[in-house]
Amino acid sequence: MRRPVIAGNWKMFKTVDEAVETVASLATLVDGVSDREVIVAPTFVGLAAVARAARGTNVSIAAQDCAPEPGQGAFTGEVSAEMLADAGATHVIVGHSERRQFFGETDDTVNAKAKAALGAGLTPIVCVGEQLSDRDAGRAEVVVEGQICGSLSGLTAEEVVRTIVAYEPVWAIGTGRSATPEIAQQMHRLIRETIAKLVGADVSEAIRILYGGSVKAENISALMKEPDIDGGLVGGASLDAESFARIVRYGY
Ligand code: PGA
Repeated sequence: MRRPVIAGNWKMFKTVDEAVETVASLATLVDGVSDREVIVAPTFVGLAAVARAARGTNVSIAAQDCAPEPGQGAFTGEVSAEMLADAGATHVIVGHSERRQFFGETDDTVNAKAKAALGAGLTPIVCVGEQLSDRDAGRAEVVVEGQICGSLSGLTAEEVVRTIVAYEPVWAIGTGRSATPEIAQQMHRLIRETIAKLVGADVSEAIRILYGGSVKAENISALMKEPDIDGGLVGGASLDAESFARIVRYGY
């Protein structure tokens, strides 16, 4: 059985105090929810304080990015996966479409970051997803397959099984236009089949694949009914503790 994961990506929002307040409220609202993983991803500056506030609760902490280089070194402005683990993170989002789109990240960069995360004992949440132009041109599947192969390249089966994949069609992020459960399911199936080809069916059946793109309390239940959707990566609707808790508590 794949344990569902509901992860909130706070992007470049919230002061440290606001982030701490939000995680404290969230932890109260999702107290006792033990059949699914709950994760929030604050900014780098908020991460240590949020992790401290979440200690002893069922909310885990992700970073939104990490350096491709491990450990320590002369890389001004970078934060390594080891440093994130030290600050209390257990997960790290890599290859979010905003990083690919605005910061020039390629599958090679994402691959290096996923390896750095795994090396530091963190769970990478590897994001993939096609642009609207890819979908309109009938290239959505080819693009996502390529992103999966490139981003997970060289990982062992044992490493892939520790990874989480998030399928986030770029046209659905922050637009209010979520993919239908059927469209999402088709792509999740394809991702699972691609992973089976890369590292075997055992791994592909065990790996969690999240859907992201305008997830809200109103659509999470329908998405979670699909057999290959194992959770959600939530942007806008994760910023408010009550709104995010409603998503986390789908089906309750
Ligand atoms: P959204 O963002 O939920 O605001 O569409 C999702 C994401 O970017 O992870």
